[in-house]
Amino acid sequence: MESSQRSSFDRNVPARMPQSPGVNTGRLRRPRVGAEARSSLFTRLLSTGPKDALRPGYYSIPSYWICEGRRLPFGMFRKTPSGEVIRLSEPNRIYQAMDRLPIDADGPAVVLLKKESRLDLLHYLDRNLDEIVANSLMSVPEKAEIFYYMGYRRMRAAYRNPNRITLGGVKGLIALMVEQILTGRETVKEIFALVQDNVCRTTEHPECAILHSLNVGILATFFVMKVLPNLARDTLEEVALGYFLHNVGMMRLPKEVVDYGGELGDATWPLVRQHPVWGLEMVRDIEEPSREVAHIIMDHHEKLNGKGYPRSLTGVDIHFFVKVGSLVDSFGAMISERSYRQALQVVDALKSIKQRVPHEYDPSIFSKLILVFLENELI
Ligand SMILES: [Fe+2]
Repeated sequence: MESSQRSSFDRNVPARMPQSPGVNTGRLRRPRVGAEARSSLFTRLLSTGPKDALRPGYYSIPSYWICEGRRLPFGMFRKTPSGEVIRLSEPNRIYQAMDRLPIDADGPAVVLLKKESRLDLLHYLDRNLDEIVANSLMSVPEKAEIFYYMGYRRMRAAYRNPNRITLGGVKGLIALMVEQILTGRETVKEIFALVQDNVCRTTEHPECAILHSLNVGILATFFVMKVLPNLARDTLEEVALGYFLHNVGMMRLPKEVVDYGGELGDATWPLVRQHPVWGLEMVRDIEEPSREVAHIIMDHHEKLNGKGYPRSLTGVDIHFFVKVGSLVDSFGAMISERSYRQALQVVDALKSIKQRVPHEYDPSIFSKLILVFLENELI
């Protein structure tokens, strides 16, 4: 399993983003303040932990990630004051209140897990994501990182192997996002920073289609929550599902197309233009999609001037939620590096989109997007 040389997280926890499709180069990443301390919090928690807990061959995780009443597939260890590593529990035990882990004087205790427990740990985090993220001891950056990287894993599972179970995983992720992630201004800022750090170089690469869809799903849902605060929760979650799944049809592209790193040639475009139709077919093979999901997947490449695909719809025939998705889709693509151009900074990407308003994108949605970015201090 290859991992990116650019991300310490990838090196330490390769299961996060195997064959990482690539993030923007360090030069192009968001400006950092006190960067290393802030940007790889999850990395540090999983790989080394506080200096005094550092043990070769072990991950250290905060004890508050351990949920009461849940089965722990991994064994847990602890370092004694004398430096000896002792076993706290065997694998596959259900963690009980009586097992409560000791609290260190300087904060929550750290428990050690053997590095070979990596996949067990990731599965455990995935299964208990809602409860872990809700823990009041969890900091905002930590909450954002765990949500984002676990979210990527669920999206990857659904895109690579779409079925009822993996789709259910994405729906659960959306419910968590709407309830606990996008409701906190500071969490949103952290998520927005992660989106900027994890944009892809080549959207045609399947891994990039997945990561890009996660980014678009988060940003577009946040925008809809802000501009339609009274939207019924069920509808909001269906809209979000459409955004998360909008590019699932890309997974049906032939391997030689998705592996091609350059700008797509004339011969390839007819295939790429099929991905909205394929995407809808793939979802229909699992369940009948809601109107919101169907429209967003099918129409996300339509343009107001009728020059989009696959149906060449014009403005009045494109639903508001679709217009939001296509604008955010373009924004996500512009802040991503391409084989033929560098990534744009957020403000430059917005300027570039402005040049395509109103013939391609809805001017009122564009203005509202700027407002939402400004009001939430994202730009
Ligand atoms: Fe697309």
